Amino acid sequence: MSMPTTLRVIREEHRALKAILQSLHLLIQQGPGENETSFFRSLRAMLFYIDRYPERLHHPKETELLFPKVREKDTGVAEAVSELDHDHEASELAVRQLQLQLLGWEFLGESERLGFVTAFENYKRAYLAHMELEESAIFPSALQHLSTEDWVEIDAAFTSNRDPLTGHHPAEGVFAELFSRIVREAPQPIGLG
Ligand SMILES: [Fe+2]
Ligand SMILES: [Fe+2]
Repeated sequence: MSMPTTLRVIREEHRALKAILQSLHLLIQQGPGENETSFFRSLRAMLFYIDRYPERLHHPKETELLFPKVREKDTGVAEAVSELDHDHEASELAVRQLQLQLLGWEFLGESERLGFVTAFENYKRAYLAHMELEESAIFPSALQHLSTEDWVEIDAAFTSNRDPLTGHHPAEGVFAELFSRIVREAPQPIGLG
């Protein structure tokens, strides 16, 4: 069977998120240099994107639509699912905290830098491990245990759920724009690809 829509969308969103995390990492390593204004603006835009898009739209779709269905069919994933659900709760708070720590660095200066960088690296590591666990534990189980009827149902719910969450189709356009602005404005040699 070809890759179900739900898993394809999740995987695409993971890829976009990995690119953003990697760009953030490179940018942070590079530091503000001569152009402090655009440096902090780029970092703020990227964290804002993560907060508004993956945290508020991607995670809920997994927690509400995919995970319960897989757990219902395969009790073997119960532990992974509860760990992943817990990550979802923790990382929404973590990205807010990061945004505040970034403002600390921007407005209070160097003394706040290390705290932000350390927090970001922890966030990035946890997030990559999280996506890895979803793809290694949930995906194979879902492919093995969900029937064609399950997928029809979950793909439909998944697709329609993308609309009501925030009045969505326009929002996706706005996020697409924010995303390409990030790519455009991030100082060289940052690229998303
Ligand atoms: Fe997730
Ligand atoms: Fe995910």
